[in-house]
Amino acid sequence: MFDYGQLKKGLFCLEAEHAHALATQALRILGACPWFFSRFESPLLETSFLDLKLPNPIGLAAGFDKDARMLAGLDVLGFGNIEVGSVTPKGQFGNPKPRLFRFAKQESLQNAMGFNNQGIIPLVSRLEHIKPLKSVVGINLGKNKNTPLEHALEDYKQGLQASLGVGDYYVFNLSSPNTKNLRDLQNESFVGELFSMAVGYTHKPLFLKVAPDMPIDTLLAICQIALDKGARGIIATNTTTDYSLLSGAKNFGGISGRVLEAKARAVFAEVARAFFGRAILVAVGGISDGKEAYERIKMGAHFVQIFSAFIYQGPLICRQIKQDIVKLLQRDGLRSIQEAIGVNHG
Ligand SMILES: Cc1cc2nc3c(=O)[nH]c(=O)nc-3n(C[C@H](O)[C@H](O)[C@H](O)COP(=O)(O)O)c2cc1C
Repeated sequence: MFDYGQLKKGLFCLEAEHAHALATQALRILGACPWFFSRFESPLLETSFLDLKLPNPIGLAAGFDKDARMLAGLDVLGFGNIEVGSVTPKGQFGNPKPRLFRFAKQESLQNAMGFNNQGIIPLVSRLEHIKPLKSVVGINLGKNKNTPLEHALEDYKQGLQASLGVGDYYVFNLSSPNTKNLRDLQNESFVGELFSMAVGYTHKPLFLKVAPDMPIDTLLAICQIALDKGARGIIATNTTTDYSLLSGAKNFGGISGRVLEAKARAVFAEVARAFFGRAILVAVGGISDGKEAYERIKMGAHFVQIFSAFIYQGPLICRQIKQDIVKLLQRDGLRSIQEAIGVNHG
């Protein structure tokens, strides 16, 4: 029987980015040898909306597989959705290291990666050559560090245009705290321009990913503009810059994991209250078990995403969450996850 506890002890002795590099290799091997893993799926978990058909509502959030190098392995682990990126038009190194920190007791992470990625062209070429996957693949777009804010729209346009044929959906990430002033783009004027531009290029679903650190009224106003201009959904939330949540936190970067759970849930609740029924809603932030995933779905999420919990609980987490949700559905007498979406809304 696979014991992640033992493996984690070894991985956590390594600097976090070295551990990530090892995990990348392991997932690439798994992608080539999928028979090592027995996938758990249930028809109860299938969900579809717009033109997307997800085998289950558990996704892997952006940032884990920025360059789409592990997709086949992540698909084998059973994620219903994998969001690659954030990817920028040109490749870049990101911020100086160290820039990724574990807070193991709190099952949380702090990162200041700064969109380290190889650029949109290599990502597109990988996606063009990948075998069909069960997971739905989203492409999360960012802007290059050296692009001035007044030219940011051009970066998002380039990323979108270059990847039009290969994504199932697209996400505009204006909410990373690790590219200087990026969050300043979370304003009505830029968001309006961004989605007006994007709908001219594709009919595929477009999402806005938001930060949890804005006043709620501002956040909702920005989401409203995005939806008015053609966004089909909102992803809430990115990491937080509320460093008071994590004792020992550094005063830079973004915090994720268990300490983000309550805040991300509260922000998601506001987004759901305002937009459930009018937009596809995706909940992310501090989700670490089937109970919380199910809770957010009942609040109105069409699907959820995880990141930090994958680091802390390992490759079986997706399977575990899915099994737990099936039990919770049966407990509540619901026939499918579709029936659970938004039952607690309002
Ligand atoms: C190391 C790391 C890198 C991340 N990179 C990105 C990114 O490139 N784009 C993005 O939209 N979100 C990024 N995120 C944020 C996650 O997608 C997610 O929104 C956040 O971690 C909250 O989820 P969690 O609490 O389950 O980790 C990153 C998170 C971490 C920990």
